[in-house]
Amino acid sequence: MTSTPSHSQAPDAVLTVDAARKAYPAGPTVLDGVSLRIEPGSFCVLLGASGSGKTTLLRSIIGLVPLDAGTIDISGTILTPKSIRRSRREIGMVHQDFGLSSRLTAAQNVMAGTAPGLPVWRLLFQAYPKDVQDKACELLSRVGLEEGHVNRPASGLSGGQKQRVGIARALINGPKLILADEPVASLDPQTAQEVMDLLRRTAKEQGVAVLCSLHQISLSRTYADRIIGLRKGKIVFDGTPGQLGPDVLARIFGTGRETFAPSMAVA
Ligand SMILES: Nc1ncnc2c1ncn2[C@@H]1O[C@H](COP(=O)(O)OP(=O)(O)O)[C@@H](O)[C@H]1O
Ligand SMILES: [Mg+2]
Repeated sequence: MTSTPSHSQAPDAVLTVDAARKAYPAGPTVLDGVSLRIEPGSFCVLLGASGSGKTTLLRSIIGLVPLDAGTIDISGTILTPKSIRRSRREIGMVHQDFGLSSRLTAAQNVMAGTAPGLPVWRLLFQAYPKDVQDKACELLSRVGLEEGHVNRPASGLSGGQKQRVGIARALINGPKLILADEPVASLDPQTAQEVMDLLRRTAKEQGVAVLCSLHQISLSRTYADRIIGLRKGKIVFDGTPGQLGPDVLARIFGTGRETFAPSMAVA
């Protein structure tokens, strides 16, 4: 006999956000009733202009920004102060500024993903089990980091190489979901495409769902299975890249020349 889940969400969503609300102290409402559901293995882009609330939403999903109202459900577990530690291990995070420790080697940065929250001085001397070392090397090879860089400090890597390490680190705990916050915003257009390509390919290979915030329309069109448009803290579009026509873009970015500049369409 199969058991019925105790809540109303379908059991197979990797992430369900329900009626999320957030206002920073003395500030405007940044998330204004956001609800969404991410299916296993899908590559979703959260598309919105700067200030639309993308970072706040992603940070609330990993429990770094407490919501004023609403719930976050990760693989069937509601995010609470008690469940945060476990839930965080089920999510890989990729950052715009790579989020690496420059004093640690590429491999140490990846292995550090198994012990989030430890200070750098402890990570420097941390002895990782053989299986973690092997997994880190395998992931670094999978993301295409040249062998000569694996045991060198991250400070010597290019931006593209750093984000390859960032993606390997996001995968080290075998997550079901990766949150990527503008992962290519600090990279040149060519490298940005290579890194988006890699993120999509590795996520698909490992069966990991991705929620990736972007402000570039063309990158969103190229890489997303699904696009969620965010404007002023509200979801104003949820559909396929093929549905992203001028009307939808105006809904997401507004029609003002300052908010819908041609530069936004450049990858
Ligand atoms: N820690 C904070 N304190 C006060 N306001 C903030 C804070 N973080 C973000 N904001 C404001 O919230 C709004 C949404 O920001 P953010 O979530 O960073 O959007 P995005 O990532 O889409 O650019 C912006 O107006 C921003 O100024
Ligand atoms: Mg942001």
